[in-house]
Amino acid sequence: MNAVPPNSASLIAALTGVLSDGGLLTEAEDLVRYSRDWSGDHFSRPLAVARPASVEEMSALMRHCHAERIAVVPQGGLTGLVGAAVAADGNEVVVSLERMNRIRSISPIDFAMVVEAGCILEDAKRAAEERDCILPITFGAQGSCRIGGNVATNAGGFNVLRYGMTRDLVLGLEVVLADGRVWNGLKVLRKDNRGYDLKQIFIGSEGTLGIVTAAALKLFPRPTQIETALVGLRSIEDAMALYARARRDCSDLLTAFELILRGGIEITVRERKDFPDPFHKPYPAYVLIEVSGGGLINLSDMLVNFLGSAGDLVEDGIVASTRAQGERLWLYREIMVERQGRGGRYLRTDVSVPISRLADFVADALFELGRARPDALPVTYGHVGDGNIHLNVVPPEGMGSEEIERLFEEAEAEIFAVVDRYGGSISAEHGIGRVKQRAFLDRIDPVSLDLAAGIKQAFDPNHILSDGRILAPASAVDYR
Ligand code: LAC
Ligand code: ZN
Repeated sequence: MNAVPPNSASLIAALTGVLSDGGLLTEAEDLVRYSRDWSGDHFSRPLAVARPASVEEMSALMRHCHAERIAVVPQGGLTGLVGAAVAADGNEVVVSLERMNRIRSISPIDFAMVVEAGCILEDAKRAAEERDCILPITFGAQGSCRIGGNVATNAGGFNVLRYGMTRDLVLGLEVVLADGRVWNGLKVLRKDNRGYDLKQIFIGSEGTLGIVTAAALKLFPRPTQIETALVGLRSIEDAMALYARARRDCSDLLTAFELILRGGIEITVRERKDFPDPFHKPYPAYVLIEVSGGGLINLSDMLVNFLGSAGDLVEDGIVASTRAQGERLWLYREIMVERQGRGGRYLRTDVSVPISRLADFVADALFELGRARPDALPVTYGHVGDGNIHLNVVPPEGMGSEEIERLFEEAEAEIFAVVDRYGGSISAEHGIGRVKQRAFLDRIDPVSLDLAAGIKQAFDPNHILSDGRILAPASAVDYR
């Protein structure tokens, strides 16, 4: 019943000393929920779970781990998809941020809030709305993911085209370093040009350079109008042409522009009887469009007029007449994302190319995939306003697990080869973690690798922080 390896008794005694009551979990049944991320692909039990309740406890914990060379992995809501936040095979201590979940302050005048890393994104968003503001980070996992993870992964989502990635929304950070020192960069200044912008190095570093304990985040005025449409189109080319026009005609009121190819809509229609085919006939491509804002412009009229003016591109469309109807249109996407793998494994990709090349890229990638693996079932959707597409691959029903592995490897190699031809990125939003590490290291140039290894060495000289994520583990590299 007790899964703690015998050699860890002293570790437990030491860590219990630096954490307050309930701060250390070691019983096998308590560790289960810290052992798997949302991908569900890998189960990996931590040595123990440390749950500091304050910056002081976090600092003491890391001071101890640094001195004793205890490997740790910071963990938020476990909604990541690249294996960055799960422990490596029973030899890392998970450092969960879940007990540091306070909202420290909200200032509608500064348009800023200071939130602890363990705060669930949706709770932070709700608190902002209560003050007539919004925190615009928005995606399916927002009810479970935590702010520290959003920062550590530079989370993207549906509203990036208007508000940017998490990186664009961070004004300041508080970070506990690998050796336990606290870096206090928590400020809500809009302009600050003093020397190096150190917070940037932690954003998107996936827990490898420090443990974010709090973030100061940008807020925006809460829109009084949110209007949503779902439209059917003849092709991805037409979707991208519609995007170019929406960008101009709806200006900065355009909040989301999400593409779903026909196969994705079919998943939702198949899985949920209460979600009928949205139009009388099927279309090769569908786009969810959202505009939002306040003030004097009637956004419902604007969206209807815009779609009317694009009659040469838009084959059919629904404009939601209520907020509830708008949310229901978004469910066509959410249900597809949840059910695409039919409860089993599937290959996820989250690639990007220049927006101008996205339509050609998708055509080429699907062609190469179909040629190499005609048995693969592609599911294609994404944030095309950011040039970011999820080109996922579902194995045919009944395929054995070894064959599935081979299919995923071949499919990923085909897709990434096309990404390379288009000068794109193999990871536009989900990060590298462990899952994308080989593909990342195969492509990184020696100068970038040298600089990255130098940064890791400077921030975490003992390689105790999420070692082996992004870069290869210290044991495999001569860092000198
Ligand atoms: C999405 C997340 C999974 O686009 O990236 O739904
Ligand atoms: Zn996405």
